[in-house]
Amino acid sequence: MVFSWRGGFETRRLLLSLLLLAAWESGSGQVHYSVPEEAKHGTFVGRIAQDLGLELAELVPRLFRVASKGRGDLLEVNLQNGILFVNSRIDREELCGRSAECSIHLEVIVDRPLQVFHVEVEVKDINDNPPVFRGEQKVLISESAPLESRFPLEGASDADIGLNSLLTYRLSLNEYFTLKLITKTDKSILPELILRKALDREEIPELNMLLTALDGGKPQLTESVQIQITILDVNDNAPEFDKPGYKVVLFENVPNGTRIIQLNASDLDEGPNREISYGIRMILPLSEKCMFLINPQTGEIRIYGKLDFEENNEYEIQVNAIDKGIPPMAGHCTVLVEVLDLNDNTPEVMITSLSLPVREDAQVGTVIALISVSDCDSGANGQVTCSLTPPHIPFKLVSTFKNYYSLVLDSVLDRESASNYEVVVTARDGGSPSLSATASVSVEVADVNDNAPAFTQPEYTVFVKENNPPGCHIFTLSARDADAQENALVSYSLVER
Ligand SMILES: *[C@@H]1O[C@H](CO)[C@@H](O)[C@H](O)[C@H]1NC(C)=O
Ligand SMILES: *[C@@H]1O[C@H](CO)[C@@H](O)[C@H](O)[C@H]1NC(C)=O
Repeated sequence: MVFSWRGGFETRRLLLSLLLLAAWESGSGQVHYSVPEEAKHGTFVGRIAQDLGLELAELVPRLFRVASKGRGDLLEVNLQNGILFVNSRIDREELCGRSAECSIHLEVIVDRPLQVFHVEVEVKDINDNPPVFRGEQKVLISESAPLESRFPLEGASDADIGLNSLLTYRLSLNEYFTLKLITKTDKSILPELILRKALDREEIPELNMLLTALDGGKPQLTESVQIQITILDVNDNAPEFDKPGYKVVLFENVPNGTRIIQLNASDLDEGPNREISYGIRMILPLSEKCMFLINPQTGEIRIYGKLDFEENNEYEIQVNAIDKGIPPMAGHCTVLVEVLDLNDNTPEVMITSLSLPVREDAQVGTVIALISVSDCDSGANGQVTCSLTPPHIPFKLVSTFKNYYSLVLDSVLDRESASNYEVVVTARDGGSPSLSATASVSVEVADVNDNAPAFTQPEYTVFVKENNPPGCHIFTLSARDADAQENALVSYSLVER
């Protein structure tokens, strides 16, 4: 290339420009600078005038100006010294987003003659953006999730580029999960939770952990996000009663419908898995009659019908509590009901007569009647004692066996003084108040000819007139006999002395 150096200032400048142009075209092309983003105001970028081959003195006269399409006044040139400097905050991410290349294109214009230069200022990334999460993450995990189950988390993003945006993750220390980092095809890394220890909602219903993202910049920037794990219930707990067995003691007269016990089972699960329905599985002894009813919702058991100690004095109620999980689980308990006797049965007396009427000469100890007593109650309520009334009668009761007695002649009889006894046997139980029953036996005394006829006087002195005709009435004798009927019939005869 040949240059003419004649032609004054203008020509020389043009030539220099051409020279420089040639240098750009043959070398790296345009003038190229670089500046880190976020550089302070006034930071030196480059000697732009010098590098474009312009004299400092001509900058003003030639109306040196810099245009930057849409980039405002991020960079400015000092017209005194021709230095390009940072004028206002340059944010690479704002300018270029996540694209790997980011530069500010400057159009430098001078007039007289009009010249246009193009200058590229590369904006270099600095690690000014921490990783960012979208917000707290909620993960729902069933408590029955098998070990090694994987739960993907949402990763963070980092507005920087390159190493400054290369994220890695850490999980806060916990015994249940570890973190696994999955590298996707686009090289981004996604964190995943791996279950390492079996979960139990009843023990820990919720877990909170921190997921931290770290970028690869220097200094490294980090950001943490809360990972809230809600452990979902599985029906893995059966309803449980406070105790395996209960005992209730009742008098046999409890009214129909009386509540005898309130059962209460609880279930550690939640929702329908802890809702319980109660039911009676079986009542022992087995019977047609159902003596107890349970309320499926509340678990209260009530009497249905009438208890009778004499019929049955102990029941075993086997109760189920079943939850509404799918499949359901059941718990069991037993309610023992002891029925207490009440003195609700009157004794009964039975008399079997043996030898009636009884002869008045019957020997002391003769058994006149057999008596048996009974009482359906138990214990003292069923213990019967017998007594005889009225007092002072020639009879007594002799116990032959429990609840068996003999009515026995206790002293000699004399029909002539008492021919009939109304004997009342009273059976009385030991309840309080006690109940009693009576039975009576009429003991007739049969006559025995044990009384000689007796004259009204032992001796009679009779004065008889002489010469009475035969057959005339002299005297009337009268003898009496205390016995009865034919034993009392008297016949007379004279006996010679
Ligand atoms: C049943 O038991 C649970 C837990 O023990 C208790 O919270 C509840 O009050 C009990 N309910 C009744 C009616 O006893
Ligand atoms: C007990 O009461 C129920 C109603 O509450 C009734 O249906 C039943 O017949 C009664 N049983 C007896 C034996 O009274």
